[in-house]
Amino acid sequence: MEQKRYGHFDDQHREYVITDPQTPWPWINYLGNEDFFSLISNTAGGYSFYKDAKFRRITRYRYNNVPMDNGGRYFYIKDGDTVWNPGWKPCKTPLDFYECRHGMSYTRISGRKNGVEASVLFFVPLKKWAEVQKLTLKNESKEVKQLKLFSFEEWCLWNAATDMENFQRNFSTGEVEIEGSTIYHKTEYRERRNHYAFYHVNAPIQGFDTDRETFVGLYNEFADPQAVMEGKPRNSHAHGWSPIASHYIEVTLQPGESKDFVFLLGYIENEQDEKFEAPQVINKKKAHALIAELDTTEKVDKAFAALCEYWDALLNIYKVKTGNDKLDRMVNIWNQYQCMVTFNFSRSASFFESGVGRGMGFRDSNQDLVGFVHQIPPRARQRIIDIASTQFPDGGCYHQYQPLTKRGNNDIGGGFNDDPCWLIFGTVAYIKETGDFSILDEMVPFDNQPGTEVTLFEHLKISMDHVIKNLGPHMLPLIGRADWNDCLNLNCFSWDPNESFQTTENVSEGTKAESLMIAGLFVVTGKDYVALCQKLANGQWSMVNGQCDFAAEAARMQQAVDAMIEAVKKHGWDGEWYLRAYDFYGRKIGSNECEEAKIFIESQGWCTMAEIGAEDGMVAKSLDSCKKYLECEHGMVLNNPAFTKYIYEYGEISSYPEGYKENAGIFCHNNPWVIIGECLAGRGNDAWSHYAKILPSYVEEKYQTLHKVEPYVNCQMVAGKDAFKPGEGKNSWLTGTAAWMWYTVSEFILGIKPDYDGIRIDPCLPETASDYTVCRKFREAEYEITIHPNGAQKGVKSITLDGQPVNGTIIPYSAGKHIVEVMM
Ligand code: BGC
Ligand code: NOJ
Repeated sequence: MEQKRYGHFDDQHREYVITDPQTPWPWINYLGNEDFFSLISNTAGGYSFYKDAKFRRITRYRYNNVPMDNGGRYFYIKDGDTVWNPGWKPCKTPLDFYECRHGMSYTRISGRKNGVEASVLFFVPLKKWAEVQKLTLKNESKEVKQLKLFSFEEWCLWNAATDMENFQRNFSTGEVEIEGSTIYHKTEYRERRNHYAFYHVNAPIQGFDTDRETFVGLYNEFADPQAVMEGKPRNSHAHGWSPIASHYIEVTLQPGESKDFVFLLGYIENEQDEKFEAPQVINKKKAHALIAELDTTEKVDKAFAALCEYWDALLNIYKVKTGNDKLDRMVNIWNQYQCMVTFNFSRSASFFESGVGRGMGFRDSNQDLVGFVHQIPPRARQRIIDIASTQFPDGGCYHQYQPLTKRGNNDIGGGFNDDPCWLIFGTVAYIKETGDFSILDEMVPFDNQPGTEVTLFEHLKISMDHVIKNLGPHMLPLIGRADWNDCLNLNCFSWDPNESFQTTENVSEGTKAESLMIAGLFVVTGKDYVALCQKLANGQWSMVNGQCDFAAEAARMQQAVDAMIEAVKKHGWDGEWYLRAYDFYGRKIGSNECEEAKIFIESQGWCTMAEIGAEDGMVAKSLDSCKKYLECEHGMVLNNPAFTKYIYEYGEISSYPEGYKENAGIFCHNNPWVIIGECLAGRGNDAWSHYAKILPSYVEEKYQTLHKVEPYVNCQMVAGKDAFKPGEGKNSWLTGTAAWMWYTVSEFILGIKPDYDGIRIDPCLPETASDYTVCRKFREAEYEITIHPNGAQKGVKSITLDGQPVNGTIIPYSAGKHIVEVMM
């Protein structure tokens, strides 16, 4: 069935163009790339923060409100009796034209009403702690227009969590200053804070407001603020309650005339002894300087051009041309973009994550890294060290840490036994991309305690050992609090609805709960670790800070990997698929013997990626079972059949209704695991058909209404076949799906895989695939690789590098430009 469409891709501009403001859900974008970030919806809703969405929230937003998406940067235009906004909301005055273009770290929202066009370009300039809002007003009518323009932002009192709860304090702390066309927000600056924010416009103003109640009116709404409706600013000065920032500007436009206004939302930090310029008066020197850098259209256009160039460079590192637009646009634009956003935000702030709940996940961040390491290796390097610094001396690790402090999060603690393995996954990806073995020699502390530093290599070693030292009765890894599936809580046992499955202390004594997912993950990362040790043994890099007999270490770990493979074959196979786990009592989970949830995707993914039992047909059978039991129209579900009742021994997974989240939802994150399994097995048709089902551009074409969330990025979960509405998406943007989709398509389907000594070429394609070319920058080299599939799904027959035949499938690395031809 054809569904209503709300927008379309514009590949040339790398934009998604939304043409109807009433999307089935707010469709958002992200601004900012390093310190200052904003979320922005297609109607300009959202908020900004500095580094940490919880502790440095700059503007206020109301999650899950009525109406949905409430709060943002709003421009009100009063033209005679008509008041409207370029992004339609919050007034919702019908517009003669509306368009929102979400691009790479910018959004442009345009509206037209009664002959006036208002277009706002939103972006955060590189290296700047500020959001630019360049508003262009154009009179397209034949009459002179006298417009009254009101801007609007509402300040958050910094800590986004207490901002929503501690009103006995909050309603008395708000403080502002007004100077010319700049409104300063300085709540709590008098005490322990050395930061403030400001909202500026590069034009004289004829009035302002800083007190919300005065501006809006206690019984009015964002849709009809009193000051705007009456066309009269109140020049209010906020003392406590809810401080806001609104500029009032009278604009006269001749027919055909257009005017630009640059609004700037900025954030400033001062040194302790330079906080004030006079008693109680904030030192505005840095604010003035920042404003001076962005106070004309020319300066702003230049900053915008720099941002676009930055993205050009990032997206030029891996570029494919297959002739299939839907594939090309995801690979070349949106998948890579989502990877970068996910790297920046981890799981902290989206329209499904409120920014106050979670810091950076240990496992999440390692996986995210694989999605962007080719683009910004130095930031990946730093991220690895930050992550490893939250590890404990026994190899376990904090499950999360706060980006502002980089300290482990005590509320959630550790004990997720898959976590350590991910450090190897991330580090190996980094070294393969960069060839930078020196990262292994970095001295990295435990739990951020100075004086405890050991080499990063040592961290990898204890990560492997953590698994080996925590084996259960079947010699499979003990699951701990949970593995990748945070909701399979086999040691939790909760009957108390006030307990969180995620933070409740676990019963760990006497547990027999083991995970086949960790077993597979251990084999995959273990093989990587062994290969890395062999490289080091061969003298590829000599450690300075730590010594190790790498050959012996490789052999030791190979043994552990072999033993794990044996344990899986012996105790982890159910006949048609891999078991999922053993519970606290040692009973099978994910077995034909179980009443419900007979098969789970995670262990199929990881054990097929590990190729465990391939020689005995286990891999092929497992992949076939995924098709038979897990696959549906919208992707593969996590488990089947879904749980229909709460199981005390299993925890959160069985708390979800059928078809949602970890209970048989299509958890897009782990579909790629099976797809990689398919690729390794050489089953290109199957790999492709699984991939296309969750590829946003394919979904976009068919299911905009049903899918509900943004059609240009993946979401964490799509409702599964047992759900009330199969195919409905939730939790878009911040998900490991981004990195896994990238890893899968770039390295396993298109088959361009960075390796220590060069690039390995090993595609796995549907038999219908035509010739394609990948331009890949790699270290100091640039490869133009053309693949001729010749109807094959897998198997490289011959490769030439600059006309010369290459032995094997690795193109040896050498700097400079190269042409590669590949015959399959
Ligand atoms: C969700 C998981 C998530 C966990 C931790 C659970 O409620 O279902 O997907 O990882 O919370 O936030
Ligand atoms: C989301 C979490 O961020 C991730 O760490 C976890 O693996 C999945 N949910 C599955 O539970």
